[in-house]
Amino acid sequence: MTLAKLEIDDFRCLERVRLAFDARYNLFVGENASGKTSLLEALFFLGRGRSFRTRRLDRLIRQGQEGFRLVGWVDQGGLQTVLGVGGRRQGTEIRVGGAPASSAAALAHFFPPQIIDPEVHKLLEEGPQRRRRFLDWGVFHVEHSFMEVWQRYHRALRQRNAALRLPAAPPSASVWDLELLDSGAKLDALRRRYLEALAEPLRQMGGQLLGADVRATYAPGWAQEDDFPVALEKSRERDSKLGLTHVGPHRADITIRVDGLVAKERVSRGQQKLLAAALILAQLSVQELKHPGRGALLLDDPAAELDGTRLAALLAIVRGLSSQLFVTSLRPDLAALGDPGAMFHVERGKVTPACG
Ligand SMILES: Nc1ncnc2c1ncn2[C@@H]1O[C@H](COP(=O)(O)OP(=O)(O)OP(=O)(O)O)[C@@H](O)[C@H]1O
Ligand SMILES: [Mg+2]
Repeated sequence: MTLAKLEIDDFRCLERVRLAFDARYNLFVGENASGKTSLLEALFFLGRGRSFRTRRLDRLIRQGQEGFRLVGWVDQGGLQTVLGVGGRRQGTEIRVGGAPASSAAALAHFFPPQIIDPEVHKLLEEGPQRRRRFLDWGVFHVEHSFMEVWQRYHRALRQRNAALRLPAAPPSASVWDLELLDSGAKLDALRRRYLEALAEPLRQMGGQLLGADVRATYAPGWAQEDDFPVALEKSRERDSKLGLTHVGPHRADITIRVDGLVAKERVSRGQQKLLAAALILAQLSVQELKHPGRGALLLDDPAAELDGTRLAALLAIVRGLSSQLFVTSLRPDLAALGDPGAMFHVERGKVTPACG
């Protein structure tokens, strides 16, 4: 699957952009504030139904306009599917193949973009939510049942929390516990299986990028020595008192270790970026094994904060992937990636094809 064409209207500084892409490698070159990241943000939004920079839709709508519009044409074995996203202050509207879609997962099935940008270090630096989302995105692509299990778990969690807040909440097992425990155990098992599949690619990419042993271990959202039913039982009194479920897969996290030490506490900003990139690239390679030819990687200004050797190592890995690439740069000299199939100039919100 490749994104063949894209239309953008009124997204950030991009007023009207019409592009035809290369199936393999697309390079966007432009000065600071020309609109490069905005372009990748539009691509990301087309596949994920959200931005990687902000939750506020009004920030994404071009100043003075009512809404933005993104349309992409995805080619797959001679068939073409049209993806459409309309954004207004009140919300987004998603269409896949001409029909309204209720969730962004429908977009990701056709165009699942991953991004490595100058903010990628936040994956390690910030709280567990980002890492859970990273983990779940990976599981979503390789485990067919993930979405249903995830939705079941979160429905049960919402209901249990609501029941805990009722004035007459019984201290005994809430009626939602069975469903919470059943879907929670399944979610936990899917995540563990996924992390096992991720381990070897992560070790390889960690070695190439950091020259170190990189491992990700799973913290399930409760004390390791207990299983989920025991942990939920132990937490019951506190849950009732505070009206909130304190243990479960919604509290899960992954801990990244470099040569046996917790990465968060000891690596430099550049290393954090490499480590986060290793995680994302490992995830992409697992995804490519499951769905060859479906992935897309957005690389925003990869040269930022990396020395020549590290940048070359990163680009060598990226070159070895089969995903469609969308790369931005201040200069057209990312030689380690080879020649782009299509190159574009970005200048004050206008994007035009350029000769290589
Ligand atoms: N909603 C909006 N409407 C109009 N312009 C916007 C909007 N949001 C952001 N911009 C402007 O878009 C311009 C391009 O921003 P963008 O982040 O895409 O640049 P860039 O090419 O990635 O720059 P850099 O190389 O510094 O990362 C900025 O000048 C910004 O102020
Ligand atoms: Mg930028």
